[in-house]
Amino acid sequence: MNTAAMEREIYVNTGGGYKVTVGAGLIDRCGELLRPVLTGDTVMLITDTSVAPLYLKRATSSLTNAGFRVVPYVIPAGETSKNMAVITSLLELFANSGLTRSDAVVSLGGGVVGDTAGFAAGVYMRGVAFVQIPTTLLASVDASVGGKTGVDLSAGKNLAGVFHQPKAVLCDVLCLDTLPSEVFADGVAEVIKTGILSGEELFSHCESRIDKSDNIISIIEKCVIYKAKIVEEDERDSGRRKLLNLGHTVGHAIERLSGYTTSHGYAVARGIAVISRAAAALGQLGATELDRIISALEANSLPTTTEYTATELAAAATSDKKRKGGTLTLVMPRGIGDCVLIDYPVDELEGIFSLGLGGESTSAGTSTGAL
Ligand code: GLY
Repeated sequence: MNTAAMEREIYVNTGGGYKVTVGAGLIDRCGELLRPVLTGDTVMLITDTSVAPLYLKRATSSLTNAGFRVVPYVIPAGETSKNMAVITSLLELFANSGLTRSDAVVSLGGGVVGDTAGFAAGVYMRGVAFVQIPTTLLASVDASVGGKTGVDLSAGKNLAGVFHQPKAVLCDVLCLDTLPSEVFADGVAEVIKTGILSGEELFSHCESRIDKSDNIISIIEKCVIYKAKIVEEDERDSGRRKLLNLGHTVGHAIERLSGYTTSHGYAVARGIAVISRAAAALGQLGATELDRIISALEANSLPTTTEYTATELAAAATSDKKRKGGTLTLVMPRGIGDCVLIDYPVDELEGIFSLGLGGESTSAGTSTGAL
């Protein structure tokens, strides 16, 4: 494959504006790619125990060759690292390493590393430059773009954080080769979500199994283009950006109920299935579209059922930070490329989720208008 010819650049016009580069072999070129973007000489290179043995040495050597002083730091892999204690350790490290306002933090890893390093970069000295080098499909298509950073609190996921847009995102698709298949599938759930939101051009790729073959660059590009457009319209998540939460209200509830042993993508896949079945039962989504969504999830070996009851899901969902007063905004699919935000009274959720699990509901369906 002629990888240089396949390299793609997407410009995201938020914050100071930044470029997302998608291509093969970018880790070995990260120093030269970042030199024109970063003003300082020191880079805090944050990664985790899964990624460090694979890519830390290569990223460090590329950055060093480009003239950066690199301070590496490795956090334990996994969602449990997304906590305030890790943020404190990072901030102390930045200060003890002499990180100045003109220097930068670079995250090398999946969503957990990006969210955590990004939060620390966003609050250190009231914000220093930040770069994302995502190494998972999930981080490439969603988490690394758009500036959401943060950590979990015991009350729920991502409850503490800041919006801090990166200066650059480098998606090296060669990293996908080392991903276990279930971690790759985790990212495919977000691709399918974006396909349902954006329309046929992307969704049609999701109807057969997505693999790590040549067209992955184009699939990531399509996801990033869609996300960039939404984020440019609503950087602060007060309107249209909430569409990106398709499947996430139930998904986050499942993650929480499982004590975060269910991964984000697998939980979101279940959430997409539940909310799509509910939308069909409420007459909002046609049977053919529902079948296509469920088949796309199945074609990619993603789960479409959950062991949790509607009561459990509703209770867990109402502690989600996106709840607004007595209502909660759900993303309801009406077709491929046609999803809407609807505010539902919190006491209707159990009925809606019950419909999504294949049960009957007596209380769902009296929703207020679409946002
Ligand atoms: N991951 C959803 C968002 O960035 O808004």
